[in-house]
Amino acid sequence: MNDASPDASANARFSTRIFSGIQPSGGLTLGNYLGALKRFVEKQDEGIEAIYCLVDMHAITVWQEPARLRHATREAAAGFIAAGIDPERSILFNQSQVSAHAELAWIFNCVARMGWMNRMTQFKDKAGKDKEAASLGLYAYPALMAADILAYHATHVPVGEDQRQHLELTRDIAIKFNHDYGVDFFPVTEPLIEGAATRVMSLRDGTKKMSKSDPSDMSRINLTDDADAIAQKFRKARTDPDPLPDTLEALEGRPEARNLVNIYAALDGTSPQEVLVAFAGQGFGSFKPKLAELAVESLAPITAEMSRLMQDPAEIDALLGRGAERAEAIAAPILEQCFEIVGMVRSRRR
Ligand code: AMP
Ligand code: TRP
Repeated sequence: MNDASPDASANARFSTRIFSGIQPSGGLTLGNYLGALKRFVEKQDEGIEAIYCLVDMHAITVWQEPARLRHATREAAAGFIAAGIDPERSILFNQSQVSAHAELAWIFNCVARMGWMNRMTQFKDKAGKDKEAASLGLYAYPALMAADILAYHATHVPVGEDQRQHLELTRDIAIKFNHDYGVDFFPVTEPLIEGAATRVMSLRDGTKKMSKSDPSDMSRINLTDDADAIAQKFRKARTDPDPLPDTLEALEGRPEARNLVNIYAALDGTSPQEVLVAFAGQGFGSFKPKLAELAVESLAPITAEMSRLMQDPAEIDALLGRGAERAEAIAAPILEQCFEIVGMVRSRRR
């Protein structure tokens, strides 16, 4: 993609392939849409081979009610399709249906070092004060994520800013595996963290990321929210009393204002600077309704399509099953080669 990048030559023998994942641990948010889904659709439309995975095994690193997990997995699949992912062109499936993820993750548990894992900030955030009570899976989470990506020899991973550190670890695992076994087997994956909305913040606190796990529903826009809820959430979004300035520098120290400007830009497909050119001098009393209108206009068709698709869960399951078969056809031979490299006897007829 970026031929000038230092890894372009290291990865030259791998054809460009995108992989990304989303946890079905609740409904999708505007953060997922702008930071991930909308960009996945753009990549698909550039004609790049892409694999999208609903990472149900990552989701259970913290407790999930089984019925809710099942529902959230189908709903996330519906969200991908409603947002424009074509399940014929791209591959869409849920992680647990392809056993290569768990198998390769074990190999990577033996490649990754405790010291690397101890530096992962997401573990620290999610485990909170009581680390002793966190699951072992939550600690090993980034090795499973590396397995998701490398089971497909994926070269590029579009994600939001919060995943940067995990992708560094994925690179470290690939490099160490290749080095330890004296092979050039795994690509050194490039993160794709681009656009105005790589970090959509909470509507209640501009220093916290918008998240499906935030206890306050007012902090986020859900892809299932109706027009009234969206308008109300933007109306009540925390802001400051000052009007919008005409430069980005002047937004420094105003995280809530900056967040709303970024959201507007990402929805509109423009830049935050262009938004300021259009709205400089206006207060939030006039900016927020326009933002809400733009959000409703962008999201309403997606919400409607999601609820239509959710009326036929069997069709969604069938589609995920077909996606899993296609995913497995790519991952199985890679995993087999990986086991050979590691020195496992593989004599079973397959
Ligand atoms: P998750 O919901 O944590 O599984 O995240 C799925 C994808 O959405 C990842 O690529 C995240 O980086 C992205 N994402 C989640 N929340 C946000 C946010 N608030 N802003 C931007 N991207 C996000
Ligand atoms: N950890 C990612 C998140 O919470 C989800 C994820 C799992 C992922 N496996 C992945 C993202 C592989 C990209 C590639 O957002």
